[in-house]
Amino acid sequence: MTAHENAVQRISIVGTGYVGLSTAVCFASRGYDVIASTRSEDKVHSINAKRAPFHEPGLDEAVRTSIESGHLRAEISRSEAVRQTEVTFLTVGTPERADGTIDLRYVISASEDIGRALKRKNAYHLVVVKSTVTPGTVRGPVKVALEEASGLVAGSDFGLCTNPEFLRQGSAIRDTLHPDRVIIGEYDTRSGQQLANLFEGFYDPAIPILTMSLESAEMVKYASNTFLAMKISYANEMARICEGVPGVDVSKVMAGVGLDERINPRFLNAGAGFGGSCLPKDTKALCKFAEEQGYSAPLLRATLAVNKAQAFHVAQLALSTLGEPRDKKVALLGLAFKPDTDDLREAQSLTVARTLLKAGAHVSAFDPVVKQVSLPGFEELDYPPSTSACLAGAHCCIILTEWEQFKRLTPDDFIQFMATPAVVDARRIFDPHEFGNRLTFLAVGVGRELDVCRTSVRDNEE
Ligand code: UGA
Repeated sequence: MTAHENAVQRISIVGTGYVGLSTAVCFASRGYDVIASTRSEDKVHSINAKRAPFHEPGLDEAVRTSIESGHLRAEISRSEAVRQTEVTFLTVGTPERADGTIDLRYVISASEDIGRALKRKNAYHLVVVKSTVTPGTVRGPVKVALEEASGLVAGSDFGLCTNPEFLRQGSAIRDTLHPDRVIIGEYDTRSGQQLANLFEGFYDPAIPILTMSLESAEMVKYASNTFLAMKISYANEMARICEGVPGVDVSKVMAGVGLDERINPRFLNAGAGFGGSCLPKDTKALCKFAEEQGYSAPLLRATLAVNKAQAFHVAQLALSTLGEPRDKKVALLGLAFKPDTDDLREAQSLTVARTLLKAGAHVSAFDPVVKQVSLPGFEELDYPPSTSACLAGAHCCIILTEWEQFKRLTPDDFIQFMATPAVVDARRIFDPHEFGNRLTFLAVGVGRELDVCRTSVRDNEE
């Protein structure tokens, strides 16, 4: 290893989504020179004009300070980004295909672009894949694309690693700077050591750095996300059981369960289920990956089935308060798949809204950042400009995203505005006693003697 390799100072990032841009600003904030490369001229313009191109707490400020310090710039040309740096992180998306597998199109075309740039660079360069890809992808199609486009050989002419990302939307910067662990998948020892050296200079020494094979590292990402998804579906399954037992509250049960150190309390919040661009997609992709190897992955299938059923169940709870749904108005508070993001991908709110619209109800939705759903099938949704306008004249309200501003609502707010004050708390933000004493109140996982909680997974499928 040369001294130069020990002291990486210039980093390029290909892809400027949550992972790419958070990585970029965090390296820039620690004094590295970073070039963030994206094919989108709008994003290049936005970043260079000191604005984050999407909603993420703290990101605007981090982009502004990084640009002002001169440590970050956005660039359309991937080859320029690679040429002027020593390490490239590949962070482009791996969207879901109709059959549940991942679409590698962007990863491969980015690898080819990086390869073509390496051909002209004439110096050792480390390529690090951060995009979520199934085991075997980096050693397989990514390496092939890099080698064919560059005419070079991985492991000797350029380095190759994978470094899965565990950040959550809504806390992307904090998670990037303070991860629980750092995983390095190495193609060869030199590549792994170079990346470990970079990270040792970047992260707090208390953060464990684990080096392993490319395939093991790729699998850590899927195993982690599917475990989180499974925890949530487990909590939701417990919630469904609790709902049939008056006096039981799943949030108390999970608090008790989570104090067992072997389990831990995080990701045991029962609610409307998991959405977003990662947990649903990764669980489906790992299912498919297992299937291709002849294993049906029943635990992962059940995780997805419980999650799908949960959104229908929430809609069912609301419908149970309405009687005949025609001419009734349901107010949805929250659309984003979780607070502090404007992301609607796989949001459970969409299934809830679709089910209510299909049943004939009028549906209004208010979310502090998602202003509307521009997807087919949601044309009849209304978007009042405030919580009170959304509640006005409604016969039932469903809490679908736990935004801070919704947590401050009191029973009086619902009583004052709604035609018939009935609340379905699908994110468990209200005290069941306080609300239950004042209005019709159904909360996920709170026991009651109603038939609505007895719908089965099969019954709920579209
Ligand atoms: C998830 C993982 O948490 C990250 O570690 C990972 O890096 C990321 O995917 C990724 O692969 O990029 P994210 O999708 O941003 O992060 O969101 P989460 O915080 O995991 O929430 C996902 C969904 O689960 C949300 O809809 C949330 O409301 C739901 N959830 C979460 C629950 O219903 N209950 C819980 O206890 C926790």
